[in-house]
Amino acid sequence: MAEEKTLENVPRHVAIIMDGNGRWAKARGLPRLAGHRAGTENLRPILEASAEFGIEILTIWAFSTENWSRPEVEVRGLLRILQRMIQRDLGELHKQGVQLRYLGRLDRLPEGLQKQVLDAIELTKDNDRIVLNVAFDYGGREEIVQAVQHIIRDGIPAEDVDEALLSSYMYTAGQPDPDLIIRTSGELRTSGFMLWQSAYSEYYITPTFWPDFDKEELYRALEAFGQRDRRFGGIKDDYGSSRQARKGKDKA
Ligand code: IPE
Ligand code: IPE
Ligand code: MG
Repeated sequence: MAEEKTLENVPRHVAIIMDGNGRWAKARGLPRLAGHRAGTENLRPILEASAEFGIEILTIWAFSTENWSRPEVEVRGLLRILQRMIQRDLGELHKQGVQLRYLGRLDRLPEGLQKQVLDAIELTKDNDRIVLNVAFDYGGREEIVQAVQHIIRDGIPAEDVDEALLSSYMYTAGQPDPDLIIRTSGELRTSGFMLWQSAYSEYYITPTFWPDFDKEELYRALEAFGQRDRRFGGIKDDYGSSRQARKGKDKA
């Protein structure tokens, strides 16, 4: 098995754009909601694998601020899936040391569901095996807008606004930025996912539809991440020093 090899540079924070549920269902002649259900079933094994691989934070994007524009039956189905997931899986997630966080607007969810989400966050807040950020009614632009609104409401003077302050007003306050962002189903766009936090994230795009994305493929994504040359705008020491050496030679 692939996992027998040791992974190098395991990312602390992995974020997944779980895309392709609809096409997965269509390919099987099933309704789109069957794809969403299959996608939901895939969450637990990927969360478990993430914890095993040593990932500290797993973010999953389940519903965007734009997804409200889908047919009502699909939107209602997706809300029901979130509700059922909390009802059915919360106890087990808590037992396994999963800390739940919610990224997105809570105020537009049905009231009962809002309460379930808040209770789940409260119940699991001291767990420390892995953090699961559930991004629901999440949009990257919306997140920045709400941060700016909060900053203004808090009466913060303009000269005190800097990158660290803005980060502390994002839904991910206190968490490291995602090191690796995975998008399933092959789309080459972010759709606004983690606009603020993704400045230096590495991307891994796979044609696999989310319900088929498995532990093996997560391993391959982590392996690919381990090979990436992250420079954060700087230059690598060896490159810098070889340039220095060449300069010295040129002079001689
Ligand atoms: C991702 O799957 C889940 C949500 C956006 C809710 P999609 O529903 O976008 O599936 P495709 O992209 O239509 O295949
Ligand atoms: C992004 O997928 C949102 C989620 C995966 C939850 P979409 O399917 O909504 O994105 P677009 O419309 O293809 O950009
Ligand atoms: Mg999609």
